Amino acid sequence: MASEIIGTINIEHYQLGHDIERLRSIRKQPEEYDEFGQGHWKNISLYNATGEADDTRYKNARRCLPTEHLRQCPAIAKLIQEQFEPTALRMVRARSLVDGLVIPHRDFVELDTAVTYYRVFLALEDNAQAFHSDEQGVFQMRAGEVWYLDAGISHAAINFGLNSRTFLCLDFIYEQRFEPADIFKDRRSAHVQRHDIHIKRVPLQPLKEREIIAATATLIECFTFKDIVFALSKYHFIYDLPVASCYDWIISAAEQANNAPVLEKAKTLRRYLIEHRAMGERYALSDWTCQAGVAR
Ligand SMILES: [Fe+2]
Repeated sequence: MASEIIGTINIEHYQLGHDIERLRSIRKQPEEYDEFGQGHWKNISLYNATGEADDTRYKNARRCLPTEHLRQCPAIAKLIQEQFEPTALRMVRARSLVDGLVIPHRDFVELDTAVTYYRVFLALEDNAQAFHSDEQGVFQMRAGEVWYLDAGISHAAINFGLNSRTFLCLDFIYEQRFEPADIFKDRRSAHVQRHDIHIKRVPLQPLKEREIIAATATLIECFTFKDIVFALSKYHFIYDLPVASCYDWIISAAEQANNAPVLEKAKTLRRYLIEHRAMGERYALSDWTCQAGVAR
């Protein structure tokens, strides 16, 4: 299902400036999928299953406990408590992306098919240089908008600039049928002010696409692989291309270069990020030996 706006919250009411500054000052800690991001990409746990501030990983748990970071952000705590229904809420993280990129991927959050995982984002500030994308197109989240983002389809995010882009990521679990308005304490928040969400992108001529692939074939080696993944991931934000086209380009380039280890690494990357990955499987993007697969 494509991403969509499901509601709007008057965040000006909460004077979030101090809390956003506070979130900015928190040091980033290493995370499981860090290597698929570039630039300043930070995930800060505000509510989670353990209440531990450094626990940023989503788990299948019933508890949703505040962390020390939430206690340091009283305005955000008030906003969450006043606006969102706590019964199905399982985790809240503050996410920041500055001068960076998260490459196209799918999150396999469907750990238990008996329940529905419902992930929403609330943008806390506007940023004209920050974009999200999914299989339907590219869009920007505006301050106060609440978005449903289907993490099960291919998606990516970028902030081309140095200005802050902070939003909240809230994970809900429903065991019964539900509707998006159920996440709000006040169901009137489930009103949508704009429906035309996609950014108009420039078409990419087939000749230009072939030239990019040929140029990539010249450059691609084990030691340039990661840089090329990040560089080609950016094209779909500007040009009218499918979100995961970069992986097809890299595979075509590795074929043209007749570089078997890189070709294998490229195919494994596409499978791992957007097709299928086994529980606990890891992929080493920076492995210069090009031996892709399960981490040793
Ligand atoms: Fe994701």
